[in-house]
Amino acid sequence: MDDERIGEVLVSREDLLRRVAELGAEISADYAERDLVLVGVLKGAVLFIADLMRYLTVPCELDFMAISSYGSSTDSSGVVRIVEDIVDSGLTLQYLLRTLTARNPGSLEVCALLTKPERRRVDLPTRYVGFEIPNCFAIGYGLDHAQKYRNLDY
Ligand code: IMP
Ligand code: MG
Repeated sequence: MDDERIGEVLVSREDLLRRVAELGAEISADYAERDLVLVGVLKGAVLFIADLMRYLTVPCELDFMAISSYGSSTDSSGVVRIVEDIVDSGLTLQYLLRTLTARNPGSLEVCALLTKPERRRVDLPTRYVGFEIPNCFAIGYGLDHAQKYRNLDY
């Protein structure tokens, strides 16, 4: 995209799809003969989950949840309202895991496309991770800045 506000490319389209395919294969192997329900966190995980599920070779159901902690600023307030794709401080995910655990699932695992280890404020089990990225603000492939740029395919 010809937009000077976009900085460096963190993950190319090619690397993105290669890694999503790997995650799909890994999850398919782990969930053979089990009941798999994918729960996407709106809105940021929509593109990721749509690609990921096409690489699954096991039956699965699909659901979505919504939550947000950011407003239009780029720093998490720590107060979670309701979802999205990337683990930053981890507070959003911590809240979601608590909420879902309370419903007694057979098991519960996290699959995050991106994670920023330097920013983590709480320790969380993230079983499947696409890419670790540095402490910067990422956009595209579902991730937004003030609701824009989600449609970038890298
Ligand atoms: P956390 O609660 O601090 O882990 O923040 C997680 C949420 O903040 C994500 O679901 C995103 O909606 C948003 N977020 C955190 N970092 C970024 C980023 O680099 N780009 C876009 N959204 C982000
Ligand atoms: Mg957002």
